Amino acid sequence: MILVTGGAGYIGSHNVLALIEKGYDVVIFDNLELGHIETVGTLKNIDSKGKVVDFIQGDLQNFDDINSVFKKYKIDAVIHFAAYSQVGESVKDPQKYYFNNVYGTLNLLRAMLENDVKRIVFSSTAATYGEPVYVPIDEKHPQNPINTYGRTKLMIENILDDYDRAYGLKSVRLRYFNVAGADSKTRVGEWHEPETHLIPNILKSTFGGSKKFQMFGTDYDTKDGTCVRDYINVEDLAKAHIFALDYLEKGGETNYFNLGTTEGNSVKEVFKACEDVTGKEIPVDIMPRREGDPATLIADNTKAKNELGWTPEKTLSDSVKTAYAWESIRSI
Ligand SMILES: NC(=O)c1ccc[n+]([C@@H]2O[C@H](COP(=O)([O-])OP(=O)(O)OC[C@H]3O[C@@H](n4cnc5c(N)ncnc54)[C@H](O)[C@@H]3O)[C@@H](O)[C@H]2O)c1
Repeated sequence: MILVTGGAGYIGSHNVLALIEKGYDVVIFDNLELGHIETVGTLKNIDSKGKVVDFIQGDLQNFDDINSVFKKYKIDAVIHFAAYSQVGESVKDPQKYYFNNVYGTLNLLRAMLENDVKRIVFSSTAATYGEPVYVPIDEKHPQNPINTYGRTKLMIENILDDYDRAYGLKSVRLRYFNVAGADSKTRVGEWHEPETHLIPNILKSTFGGSKKFQMFGTDYDTKDGTCVRDYINVEDLAKAHIFALDYLEKGGETNYFNLGTTEGNSVKEVFKACEDVTGKEIPVDIMPRREGDPATLIADNTKAKNELGWTPEKTLSDSVKTAYAWESIRSI
């Protein structure tokens, strides 16, 4: 049985689908503060071919909530998505982030140790690297996060190293770049409130209203002058978690991997992909550069390819197509 914290959220729900497809029993743990009961309903109703898909509502900040899951089920490994992840909010209210992300994870790890569960796949982020010293960013790149959110994730990575040294708890930390897209069968998709990510916001704007977007900086040293980011498809991302789980099940040591495509798409390319998929013109105002936006942020994914055997397959266009199909259903 795999415990998925945050399984009612965006990335967690796609991972639950991938786990079900691989024949795992799954228990989702989520407080539904940011996740959705509708998503849980969808996941519980998937034909899981006799495998268990259960849901426990609880909060990681409450030790008894999470400990009771380990008492109820025989958990083999944990995939840990539950966290707050809005950069701006993390800077305005760091206490909220340190309690939920760091203290919540400490409770989870305590429950794992008390119940002798020693394998965890953890959602880390490219935000742990901070300003790029070089690109593509590989795993040896210094980790100097420039905001509270990134610091909470780096703290957890350090805690996981200590817990391996002291207690033999093995972890795989997956550092995601920009996650995009939805399930290709449109069962689940990206559903953040408020939505802070560019692609869903552009797509949402095409369903009525007349939102105008701002493009910050067209004079960067990139292919078309706009910032380049690495968009990794959420289904590709989910597959990487299955590989990470497999790696740990086979006795793999604590490790960490970048999850990105290494390709990188510019802001202009993102708008163009959205226009191509929706067939609508997206109005944009060109603005000066924004402080603190690096020109290019892309992953070197060689390590995940070589050591996990994972290769991302989907393009930006694939992600925009599935995200649009998902938004189309939600807008009805
Ligand atoms: N979306 C991205 O592009 C991206 C990039 C890098 C890393 N990440 C990381 O991936 C993970 C998932 O991100 P997401 O976009 O799916 O976020 P999300 O908000 O959609 O999902 C997070 C889920 O965790 C739950 N949760 C939060 N705190 C909880 C708590 N204390 N107890 C129980 N449940 C709790 C929420 O209700 C939600 O369902 C996060 O850890 C995030 O930091 C996301």
